[in-house]
Amino acid sequence: MTVANMVEARCCFKLLYAIVVVLLLHTSSPCIGCSERDRQALLALKQGLVGDDGNCLLSWGREAQNKDCCQWDGVYCNNQTGHVVKLDLGEQSLRGKISPELVQFQHLEYLDLSFNNFSGSKIPDFIGSLSNLIYLNLSQANFGGQIPNQLGNLTHLQYLDLSFYEDNFIPPVNSIHAKNLNWLPNLSGLKHLDLSYTTLSDVGWLEAVNMLPKLTNLILQGCNLPPPIISSVSLMNSSDSLVRVDLSLNSLNSSIFQWLSGTHTNLVYLDLSMNYFRGSSIPASFGNMSSLAHLRLYYSELEGGIPNSFAKLCRLRELDLRSNSLSGQLSDLCLKHCPNALK
Ligand SMILES: *[C@@H]1O[C@H](CO)[C@@H](O)[C@H](O)[C@H]1NC(C)=O
Ligand SMILES: *[C@@H]1O[C@H](CO)[C@@H](O)[C@H](O)[C@H]1NC(C)=O
Ligand SMILES: *[C@@H]1O[C@H](CO)[C@@H](O)[C@H](O)[C@H]1NC(C)=O
Ligand SMILES: *[C@@H]1O[C@H](CO)[C@@H](O)[C@H](O)[C@H]1NC(C)=O
Ligand SMILES: *[C@@H]1O[C@H](CO)[C@@H](O)[C@H](O)[C@H]1NC(C)=O
Ligand SMILES: *[C@@H]1O[C@H](CO)[C@@H](O)[C@H](O)[C@H]1NC(C)=O
Ligand SMILES: *[C@@H]1O[C@H](CO)[C@@H](O)[C@H](O)[C@H]1NC(C)=O
Ligand SMILES: *[C@@H]1O[C@H](CO)[C@@H](O)[C@H](O)[C@H]1NC(C)=O
Repeated sequence: MTVANMVEARCCFKLLYAIVVVLLLHTSSPCIGCSERDRQALLALKQGLVGDDGNCLLSWGREAQNKDCCQWDGVYCNNQTGHVVKLDLGEQSLRGKISPELVQFQHLEYLDLSFNNFSGSKIPDFIGSLSNLIYLNLSQANFGGQIPNQLGNLTHLQYLDLSFYEDNFIPPVNSIHAKNLNWLPNLSGLKHLDLSYTTLSDVGWLEAVNMLPKLTNLILQGCNLPPPIISSVSLMNSSDSLVRVDLSLNSLNSSIFQWLSGTHTNLVYLDLSMNYFRGSSIPASFGNMSSLAHLRLYYSELEGGIPNSFAKLCRLRELDLRSNSLSGQLSDLCLKHCPNALK
């Protein structure tokens, strides 16, 4: 090899090196997209689902110009890492099957599949592997069967919504049910729990709920809840954090009043309508719920008068006592002390 040749070769090498560097810089450009694995997992998810015209999965594609799945409708990535952190697939009229490829998204914090139709199929166990979930919404999605215990694995969860509201109060066939709620205390960061119109016949339901120190919203409407075992519930433990409690349309009896006579000073909304309180009167301890703005107790077979302690409920704006056997004057009580109440 001549010297001239060597110089030429070196030049060539330098040029090649420069091209490689430019290419590398280009492919790892600051615009972080999703990984190929995430993209494949989303395409697998799409494969299992069908929807009506206009659903967001239509924008999920293979084309080169549509390669970055962080840009796809309903898909959100962390802009530092490129990991998929949010899947917002609510109200897309989706039907079909949820691919187990979903567990690929180990960084997922937010999953919304509400308002779709999964035809009464069971909530997939593998959702329990998405251990970083903070928000899980499977409401109105026509899931059925037993709630998987694996949900107990979702220890970061703050919002859990499995509700299914029907206009006529008839639960869907094969509605979601749970034999026990032993998995629930594992979700110790839970703030919002809505299991309305699922079937929860476990007498230990209150014990499980009571172990959630951060719970603010407890919504268990129409769940067939039986009277809980109160003796096993630490009344002093009963969440100070609760702001909204809806236990309407269940099979509770007045034993629930014992729990509510705990320290519920932050409670703003309480609905116990349509339960079986026959022969009981409204407990005086309700007058201690100093933040209460809405109290609903209709259709509950309550008897007796309205406790004097209600005079202390100065924030009360709604009091619904229809269809009970109550006597006494409301105006004497509340309005005298708090002219703004119940306007
Ligand atoms: C990255 O995400 C954070 C939080 O979602 C957001 O506040 C920020 O503006 C984003 N940065 C860029 C460059 O998009
Ligand atoms: C859900 O899909 C099933 C068939 O898989 C159908 O029978 C049912 O009517 C659908 N429900 C709604 C609310 O669209
Ligand atoms: C529970 O989470 C752990 C750790 O994230 C995971 O290894 C395990 O597979 C999960 N179990 C279930 C049943 O989802
Ligand atoms: C779940 O989704 C439904 C329907 O989109 C919505 O009404 C509900 O507020 C959501 N639940 C939570 C906890 O955000
Ligand atoms: C509760 O969480 C722990 C660890 O996070 C796990 O080992 C256990 O299986 C969970 N229990 C239930 C009932 O899910
Ligand atoms: C009281 O709540 C804490 C969590 O805040 C829980 O660890 C404890 O077991 C509960 N005690 C009873 C008796 O329920
Ligand atoms: C409530 O129901 C439970 C279980 O059926 C029963 O043991 C208890 O005596 C009832 N309490 C009242 C006040 O009716
Ligand atoms: C209301 O609270 C006060 C002070 O905490 C307490 O002394 C009283 O017994 C309570 N009243 C009822 C009816 O529970």
